[in-house]
Amino acid sequence: MPQRPRAPAAAWSGRGATYAVSGVHRTGPSLERLIALVRPQPGDRCVDLGTGTGHTAARLLAEGVNEVVAIDPAEGMLEAARRSYGHLPGLRLVRASGDATGLPGTSFNVVTARHTLHHHADPQATLHEVARLLRPGGRFVMVDEVTPDPRVDAWLDAISRARDATHVRAYRMDEWTAMLAEAGLRRVVGDTQTRYRMDASTWIERMALSPAGEAEVRRLFREAGPSERELFEIEFDENGEAVRFALPMALVLAVLPAEGESA
Ligand SMILES: C[S@@+](CC[C@H](N)C(=O)[O-])C[C@H]1O[C@@H](n2cnc3c(N)ncnc32)[C@H](O)[C@@H]1O
Repeated sequence: MPQRPRAPAAAWSGRGATYAVSGVHRTGPSLERLIALVRPQPGDRCVDLGTGTGHTAARLLAEGVNEVVAIDPAEGMLEAARRSYGHLPGLRLVRASGDATGLPGTSFNVVTARHTLHHHADPQATLHEVARLLRPGGRFVMVDEVTPDPRVDAWLDAISRARDATHVRAYRMDEWTAMLAEAGLRRVVGDTQTRYRMDASTWIERMALSPAGEAEVRRLFREAGPSERELFEIEFDENGEAVRFALPMALVLAVLPAEGESA
């Protein structure tokens, strides 16, 4: 069973300044792919779950959607979003959890969730909220860390949690497919081809860990087995320390079936 993180909103609130300027969050291949799957339309009413410092919400508005309600439980992240993007017409920042947004049901054409679901204590409840928010035919696009192979399941969760205690679980695509179906959402696209090529030190240092915490993440890299080394493309320096690696991302487009269609 995934462990529940302790006080995740409090942990995230201290990270606003860092995430506001994070290159992989401000831009990055997953944002381009998310936009390509959303195919934003001028009349779209959108919800961005786990908006963090607002990069995905701002990009949707730049693509011409009508409005984005950007949801996050961490006030510090929302404050940073307000500083960067608060001037944008059509943006509404709301403090709430993704599984209980308090927004009216059957009201939105698009829901997005980028790099957030692996932090949710109950992602199934979040998917139910997505289905409640969408109008029939509405689309849901998510990007999330994914376990590409069951053999590396435990290692990815262990290193992700050692780096960030708010990490709950990187699910496999078959798990996402089952959770989407259970929530009444029909998966249209689901791939795990996108890779985030990360500098190991940048990835670790973004979390401002204690020396012991940082040493634990580095130890997990050093002790990665052959499957992890291959699947995460881990590169080491001459001292055996991880230098670079690749994080696989799940990209999913799902729709809420219109009346009479099956999920
Ligand atoms: C990596 S940041 C999100 C990045 C952002 N979506 C982007 O595209 O730049 C992860 C966010 O998930 C939020 N989060 C964690 N648990 C959540 C939950 N249950 N519901 C909604 N958001 C949550 C955190 O507060 C944090 O701001």
